[in-house]
Amino acid sequence: MKNKNKISYSLTESVLESVDINSAIKVLKSKKITMGPKTKQIEAYFQNKIVKTNSLMVNSGSSANLLIFQCLINPMVKKLKSGDEVLIPAICWSTSLWPIIQSGLKVKFVDIDLSTLNIDLNDLKKKISKKTKALMLVHALGNCTDMTKLMNICKKNKIILIEDTCEALGSTYKNKPLGTFGDFSSFSFYYSHHITSGEGGMVCTKNTKYLEIIKSLRSHGWSRDLSNNKSLSNKYKHIDKNWIFINSGFNLRTTDVNAAIGLEQLKRIKTILSIRKYNFLKIKKSLLGNKKYDNQFTILNDQKDSNTAWFGIPIILNSNDKKYKQYVMGNLLDKGIMTRPIISGNFAKQPSIQLYKIKINYKLPNADLIDKKAFFLGLHNIKITNSKLKSLTDNIYSSL
Ligand SMILES: Cc1ncc(COP(=O)(O)O)c(C=O)c1O
Repeated sequence: MKNKNKISYSLTESVLESVDINSAIKVLKSKKITMGPKTKQIEAYFQNKIVKTNSLMVNSGSSANLLIFQCLINPMVKKLKSGDEVLIPAICWSTSLWPIIQSGLKVKFVDIDLSTLNIDLNDLKKKISKKTKALMLVHALGNCTDMTKLMNICKKNKIILIEDTCEALGSTYKNKPLGTFGDFSSFSFYYSHHITSGEGGMVCTKNTKYLEIIKSLRSHGWSRDLSNNKSLSNKYKHIDKNWIFINSGFNLRTTDVNAAIGLEQLKRIKTILSIRKYNFLKIKKSLLGNKKYDNQFTILNDQKDSNTAWFGIPIILNSNDKKYKQYVMGNLLDKGIMTRPIISGNFAKQPSIQLYKIKINYKLPNADLIDKKAFFLGLHNIKITNSKLKSLTDNIYSSL
């Protein structure tokens, strides 16, 4: 029987607690709702407690990625120039990729490793050429690759590393947070992520000069809020000091309402991560330990030496039947269990790639396989109950 209106297991159950709502209401009542002191507070919190590196809040993870590439091509930086090549794993999000092209750079896709769903380091080595200047690494589903090997490859080939950490807030590799390995990183606080501010994200970089440039790009290209604002107003005495535009710009700012909600959630990130971990392990054990389990599917382990803050629960079906994934996902939906592709599947196959005539004259067999055989289940921020776990497990087995 079709049961399309009743969701029994959703992709997301983010929890807005009363402290989050009260903090947002306080901002609203102050009548100063645009970017201001709350944004500064969440940035300081993120910088001091989460990544220990310079952090700026923006209105989304996508905006964070855009600002990173716009900083790299900026005339004040010139680390990348038109036509330079950036590598990216084929299992990525739309706005992991498009900021590269929107910044006049070329992309080349790298295949993924089936045991991590993250970049395949052998294919990465093969894809590096003289034109390769940067790597947009995507920590897919919160998991990561062998970061020691990856850092060596980047160092050896003088590759600028950008970490798209939008799905991996709280994941660590050898006890070091993902998002702190590269030259830049981005985080997302969208509704379905580990914490949410509604919409929101963070852009991080160790380089304080780049941070200042991103700060300016985030807000119209003006000089307000920059640490050298005073000397700029002395230099440009003929221009009103609040209206000096030193760079090109966007408006990618957040609001203090979003910052207030995000900050309260960040304060309880340890609890959120431990609940998500509990849910991941409980569901995995219930599925793999079930007497009906007969190798129908695989659920991944954390990358060696890492503690993965899973974004969702990846299920890789082992059947070679091309129609099996659609069959299973359809059955699950009928039972109210929501699923989705691993990020967006093999992005090289998306119509937007043809629209922009991006040439792909190489194969991405593992990304194709993931397209054909894998999907993920959501992971919630509230502990799964035994009855929900039982019904989820039973429904999954009756969908196979
Ligand atoms: C890997 C990855 N990068 C970037 C983004 C963009 O984040 P946002 O939705 O905050 O723009 C997402 C969104 O889900 C993502 O999964």
